[in-house]
Amino acid sequence: MEAEAGITGIRRRLQEAGQEQLLRFWEDLEPAGREALLGELRQLDPRELREHCLWAQLAYKQESSAPQRPDHSMSPVPPAFLGSVSRSQQGELCAWEEEGFHQISQNKVAVLLLAGGQGTRLGVSYPKGMYSVGLPSGKTLYQIQAERILRVQQLAKDKYSTKCTVPWYIMTSEFTLYPTQKFFEENNFFGLERSDVIMFEQRMIPAVGFDGKAVLERKDKLAMAPDGNGGLYRALTDNQVLQDMERRGIAYIHVYCVDNILVKMADPVFIGFCVSKGADCGAKVVEKAYPSEPVGVVCQVDGIYQVVEYSEISQETAEKRNPDGSLVYSTGNICNHFFTLEFLKTVATTLEPLLGYHIAIKKVPYVSKEGIQLKPSRPNAIKMEKFVFDVFQFAKKFVAFEVLREDEFSPLKNADSANKDTRTTARRAILWQHYRWIRKAGGRLIDVNGCQVVANYGFSETEDPPAVCEISPLVSYFGEGLGSYVKNKAFSSPFVLDPEKAKELLV
Ligand code: UTP
Repeated sequence: MEAEAGITGIRRRLQEAGQEQLLRFWEDLEPAGREALLGELRQLDPRELREHCLWAQLAYKQESSAPQRPDHSMSPVPPAFLGSVSRSQQGELCAWEEEGFHQISQNKVAVLLLAGGQGTRLGVSYPKGMYSVGLPSGKTLYQIQAERILRVQQLAKDKYSTKCTVPWYIMTSEFTLYPTQKFFEENNFFGLERSDVIMFEQRMIPAVGFDGKAVLERKDKLAMAPDGNGGLYRALTDNQVLQDMERRGIAYIHVYCVDNILVKMADPVFIGFCVSKGADCGAKVVEKAYPSEPVGVVCQVDGIYQVVEYSEISQETAEKRNPDGSLVYSTGNICNHFFTLEFLKTVATTLEPLLGYHIAIKKVPYVSKEGIQLKPSRPNAIKMEKFVFDVFQFAKKFVAFEVLREDEFSPLKNADSANKDTRTTARRAILWQHYRWIRKAGGRLIDVNGCQVVANYGFSETEDPPAVCEISPLVSYFGEGLGSYVKNKAFSSPFVLDPEKAKELLV
């Protein structure tokens, strides 16, 4: 009855937006279906919907024509604004780390996880953070990240003898909020204070067909998708997240993606580097592995910082080299950012509308004109997304910080049938790292055949390490302090160094 009453106004609004096809199956719907559909349609502003659909179609047409290349306006990040783990003196790195720990000890640092993605390439039905890559402990990405927060808090506490809290803000979407909340509840927030884990939801926007019409996923439901990881800035405002940060006295925020198994949560070195340079916005980068590697490059275009996608750069520019042989455009973006709270406030309250949408052409389940629900075998719709890094252009002082890929970046993107960024490559990345840490700390490893490991190589994406060792983040955040447990001792593969084992080893 209520639905009947509301339909006239909604129909008129959809006509204004040129989207009345969304009511195509109205007559077929039961009352519950009508209510559900009306509920969704009421949320849509006709003018915004009209613009959104027109924009999507236009962007799609433009993208199908020849790409615009920014090559001639590009310049690399100037050396004065580019820090590097491998090219800095040990003393400098220690000073940055000290600065980072100092800020953490003052409770001024938060981490913010972007976890609203649908993870379609990985192809699981639950949020990516709940995925386990098959480590001996069976830990999921969420658990690994939670334990790194616990450890970095502990390290700051040990240094400064004060209670330290690094709040964890988690941006979810309609797809990931409920299962993520449930998972954290079931796991008792992995030992974190539940009040310091703050989940919030980003907006969803309609997927648009190539004909410029919003798509129906079912007769009573629009096909909606999260508005991209750059939806962060609207979500911060929608959910009063910045006020929460302000109330806690947060000044610096470390933003990262859910899928990087090696992420250094609240990385004191990176935080300290950005704070020491007086930056309001920063990006961690890794050196590109090869010129055509499909990662975005952090650089300037017409003097403005941005990430240029690999597909936008010509081969000639991608292959340009410095006199020392290194690539000119080598700063690969890894979605790992530093922002001051002041910067986020300015973006969220004033500049966000200036961020453009990027389009992604995806396979979106839909109902045919005949009312049959279909799963397309080819991409059939346009999803519009904002990107988190598009705010670099607004920075007063932007810096980039290059870290070692084998230590800090291994994303889980694809199903295992792919040859990169899979559960296997992510698992190997972490096992190789822990293997290196044990070797460096003076531990000896015995392989599964009972032979002592002598090989000293340090990383391979295509092979497992010669001995499997997993170190709990609760024992070591980034390889520190392991000598007291493992020096001059031998361990058989697989070896798991968790807090209980660590206690035993000290006796
Ligand atoms: P990806 O670009 O890898 O997208 O996201 P995805 O949705 O996880 O995976 P595919 O493309 O469907 O396979 C990079 C990061 O941005 C987050 C993701 O959760 C991931 O941490 N993200 C992405 C959001 O938070 N919101 C979005 O709308 C999109």
